[in-house]
Order: sequence, then structure tokens, then C-alpha cells
Amino acid sequence: MKKIAVFTSGGDSPGMNACLRAVVRTAIYHKIEVMGIKHGYDGMIKDEFVTMDSKSVANIIHRGGTILKTARSKDFLTIEGQQHAFKNLQKYKIEGVVVIGGDGSFKGALEFSKMCNIPFVGCPGTIDNDLVGTDFTIGYDTAINTVIEAVDKIRDTAESHDRLFFVEVMGRDAGLIALRAGIGVGAESILMPETKTDIEVLIKRLESGRKNKSSKIIIVAEGEEAGGAFVIAEKVKKRLPDFDTRVTILGHIQRGGNPSAMDRVNSSRMGFAAVEALLQGKKNVMIGIVDKNIQYTPFEKAVKHIQELNQDLIRMVDILSL
Ligand code: F6P
Repeated sequence: MKKIAVFTSGGDSPGMNACLRAVVRTAIYHKIEVMGIKHGYDGMIKDEFVTMDSKSVANIIHRGGTILKTARSKDFLTIEGQQHAFKNLQKYKIEGVVVIGGDGSFKGALEFSKMCNIPFVGCPGTIDNDLVGTDFTIGYDTAINTVIEAVDKIRDTAESHDRLFFVEVMGRDAGLIALRAGIGVGAESILMPETKTDIEVLIKRLESGRKNKSSKIIIVAEGEEAGGAFVIAEKVKKRLPDFDTRVTILGHIQRGGNPSAMDRVNSSRMGFAAVEALLQGKKNVMIGIVDKNIQYTPFEKAVKHIQELNQDLIRMVDILSL
């Protein structure tokens, strides 16, 4: 293999730059040329290829976002878009590609592999942690820490005013940010799409905990219910009008910021392993870290969203938040 390309795709996540740095420097070590593609699949179609060298990835390991920029490409869903992308990869004599992104990016790579015979290897870049085949995706740890920092501040004001707060966190299809961050902030309840909220149970919990605590934090995963935290807060308010209730949507703040130590290390390991996987002839697999070891999961399986919630954690939340 003489030349590879690398790009970031989908929602950005802290650690993507660290991963990119590892891909570029590992390739250079193996005497492979590297091209970066700006704006994800859109840039592959529109010919936004740039030559990368060791210097182009200097001083980025600590930076959030992605220096290559990213996009959710609509054009890549069309045959014409894919044909343009394939032509550009051929034009630059690309023999392997590393895609740093989430489930949409890997689904795109799978679809593309029906017409393009160039091997793709993926690194799991998403704050949602909703990919099968890795304990932690790139950016998940940082996002949880961001949520914890924000909710600690909300707790101060909630406690001062004896208020009930509903705090909505990201995670379109998964409650994994909600679960870990919720444990970290000592949330009174965590509402996730995987466990489907029973409002009656929530109301009983709030009523029975009334005497123990003056402030209450309910963490709501955005995918929990259409309308999210506002809708749930409204339902609860109708039944418990004497609670002084507020709603905070944390939003895109969760995607930014410097990557945590764990994200920097994991991203570096995954980027390094991705290039070596291409050299070993692997294709259409996602690199993951499971029980501290590098693992390869076929894209078909990685995007299945069936990462089971740890039932021990869920049981623990119920007990600790009483
Ligand atoms: O992919 C991660 C994610 O942050 C989800 O948690 C969220 O639902 C979505 O991206 C938001 O996407 P956008 O940046 O397009 O608003």
C-alpha cells in the first residue's frame, strides 16, 4: 500500500484530531503517503483532497472539533455522488481509506463498497457511544465530563431554590451519555430510550423522595421522547404542580472542548490500529477497544445500535438515588 486517505464524518467529537494525527504519523512511519479529505464524504465528491504530512497534524492532539472539518453528506446517498467520489479516489491513486465517524459514516462506507473496491477501515468517532464493538467511542468520555461539569453548576442553583430540574443531554438513539453522566452527578432519575419512561413510576419516585432532598435532577436523553425534556417536564408539572420545575437543554456544548486524557489515548490507539489494519488487508471493519484490547468489528455489526445497557448500573442508579 503506497497511498491512503483519511477523513472525519458526521457529528464531530473530541478526540477526532488525536485520531487523525495517529493515522497520519503511523502511515508516514510505514512510508505510506496520506491525503486528508475535507468535509467528509462531501469533500470526497467535490475533490477537497489535501496532502498531509507530520507537520500538518502537529499541536492538534489537545484540540476539540476536527481540523479536516466534517459534514453529513446528502449527495453521497446518491449513485452520482458515489461515482464522483470513486473517480476522485482513483484520480489520487488512493489504495485504502480511514473514516473517523459514527454509524451514518460506516453505513455510507458499506453502501459505497458495492461499487468501490478500495478498502475502508473505521474509527468510532461519536460522543453517543452507540456503536457495537468498542467500550468507548472517541469523544464519549469528554462529553460525559462536559455534562457533569454543567450539571454540577445546575445542582448549585437547584439546591438553593429547592427546584426540580430536567436536564436534556445528547444521544439521538442511545441513552449512554445520560446513564454515565447521570450516575456521575447523582441524578435522582435517568430517562433513556432503552428503558422507556413510565411517568407514574417517575412521579412516585419524586413524591417519595420529597423529604430526603430539596433539589432534584432528572437527566433526560434527547431520544427518550418526541419533544424531549420539555414534554416530560410538562407531564410531571401537571401531576405535581407544587414542584418548582425548570428545564435545561445542554445541546452542542457536549460536542466541543479539549478531549479528556482517556479520549486522547484511545483515539491515538485506534488511529494507529486503523493504518495497521489496512496494511494487514482488513476492510469494512471498525476499530474498537474492548477490555483494553484492540478489536475489529464488521461495519454491518458495528452500526446495529444494540449496545446493551449494563443492568447492574441501572439497578445501582435506582438504589443510590433514593
Ligand atoms: O452524532 C452525535 C450527535 O451529537 C447526537 O447526539 C445528536 O442527536 C446529533 O449528533 C446532533 O446533530 P447535529 O449536529 O446535526 O445537530
